[in-house]
Amino acid sequence: MKVLVVGGGGREHAICTQVSKSKRVDKLYCAPGNAGIAKVAECVDIGAMDFDRLVDFAVSVPVDLCIIGMDDPLVGGLADRMAEAGIRTFGPKAKAAILEGSKAFSKDLMKKYDIPTAAYENFDSYEEAVEYIKKSKMPIVLKADGLALGKGVLICNTLEEALEGAKEIMLDQKFGSAGNRMVVEEFMTGREVSVLSFVDGKTIKIMTSAQDHKRALDGDKGLNTGGMGTFSPSPFYTAEVDEFCKKYIYQRTVDAMREEGREFKGVIFFGLMITENGPRVLEYNARFGDPEAQVVLPRLKNDIIDVMEACVDGTLDKIDLEFEDNAAVCVVLASEGYPVAYEKGKKITGLENFDGKDDYFCFHAGTKLVGDDIVTNGGRVLGITAKGADLKEARANAYKATEWVDFEGKYMRHDIGKAIDEA
Ligand code: AMP
Ligand code: GLY
Repeated sequence: MKVLVVGGGGREHAICTQVSKSKRVDKLYCAPGNAGIAKVAECVDIGAMDFDRLVDFAVSVPVDLCIIGMDDPLVGGLADRMAEAGIRTFGPKAKAAILEGSKAFSKDLMKKYDIPTAAYENFDSYEEAVEYIKKSKMPIVLKADGLALGKGVLICNTLEEALEGAKEIMLDQKFGSAGNRMVVEEFMTGREVSVLSFVDGKTIKIMTSAQDHKRALDGDKGLNTGGMGTFSPSPFYTAEVDEFCKKYIYQRTVDAMREEGREFKGVIFFGLMITENGPRVLEYNARFGDPEAQVVLPRLKNDIIDVMEACVDGTLDKIDLEFEDNAAVCVVLASEGYPVAYEKGKKITGLENFDGKDDYFCFHAGTKLVGDDIVTNGGRVLGITAKGADLKEARANAYKATEWVDFEGKYMRHDIGKAIDEA
C-alpha cells in the first residue's frame, strides 16, 4: 500500500521510521518531511497547511492511508478534507481535534463528564477575568484558549504577574487569536506524565508512558520549549496510577467525545499530573507528542499500519497492543539560543554513525539538505534516541550517541531522565 505522512519534525521522522518497517507498505511519502525523513520516505514539497495541494497529491497517487502528525492541520480540518476526497486518514476530524484546539472546550468537557482536572473558569471578557483573578489564590495558571505552539500557558506566582499575564494574553494578544478566550486555572503540583493512546471512536488502547522535559536548561530552568528530551516508560506511572486513569480518565474521555457527537479517531495524548489527590488531566492533545513519539514508537511491537487502520475502521478492540519490555531515552540537540534566537544553516557531521544500529535513532527535527550537506534548519535539530534494557542503560546509551554528531552551536540538556534516579 501507499502511505502519506503529513509533517516534518522529529515526531514525523519517528512515525515514518515505524511505517517504513511495515511489510504492508511499499511506498511512503512525507509532506514536507526533512533531510532525515528523506532516508525512509520520498519527501514531497508541500506544507502541512497547504490543504488543497495535499489533497490533490493524495488523490493523484492515490494513497491508501494518510497519517496526519501535527496539531495545526488536524485542528484546521485536514482529516475532513482528505475524507471528503475519499482518502482514508488517521487523525481526528476538526470536530474532534477541538479537544486540543480549544482549552476552554476541553475543560468544559472534563467538568461535564466528571473527568479529574484542575478547577477553572473560562473568560471571554478581560474585565471579568481580572475581577476573578483578584479574588483568586496565587499561584494561578492562565491559558490562552487556542493553539499557541505549546507556549500559551503562564504560571503566575503573584497577583501582579497574573494581571500582567491576562493583559498579555487577552489585550495584547501575545499568542494571537488563541487569546480571545482564556482559561484561569488552579495551580497544581506533582509529577507530569505523558500518556499516548490509540482511539477508534469507542475503544481506547493505552501506549507505554513517557515523560517530557519542557524547559530549555538543566534543572528545569529557563524558558519553555517544544521539549528538550523524553524518557519512556515513566517509573512514576505506577499500576495504581494506571488503574485510576483507566477508571476515571481514559474511557470516560472517549465516551464523552462520542456523546457530544465528536467521535475521536486517532491519538489522544493525555498530559497528566500525578498530584497528592491522584492523577489530574493537565491537557489533551490530538496527536502523538513530540518528542514523546521518539521514545514510545521505537518500542512498539505491532505493525503500526495494522493499529492505525484499526483506528480508522473501528476495530481497535481486535488489536493486542504490545511494547518491548525495555526503555528508551531521547536527548534533543538544539541550536544555541533556542527557543529565542538562533542561527540556521550549520553543517551537521557524524550522522553516518547511526547507520545500521538498531537500538539507536537519530530523528531529524529541523534539518535540510543543501547540496551534499545536511544542515541545521530549526531550533530543535535532532532527537538522539537510544534503547536500553532499563532507563539507566538507555540514558547512558543516548548520551553516548549525542557525541557521535556535531554542528556549530550544538546545545543539549544534560539531565534528561535524571528523575529516574529518584524513582
Ligand atoms: P499545558 O499546555 O496545558 O500542558 O501546559 C503546559 C505546562 O504548564 C504543563 O506541562 C505544566 O508543566 C504546566 N501547567 C499547566 N497547567 C497547570 C496547572 N494547573 N498547575 C500547574 N502547572 C500547570
Ligand atoms: N511534548 C509535548 C507535546 O508534544 O505537546
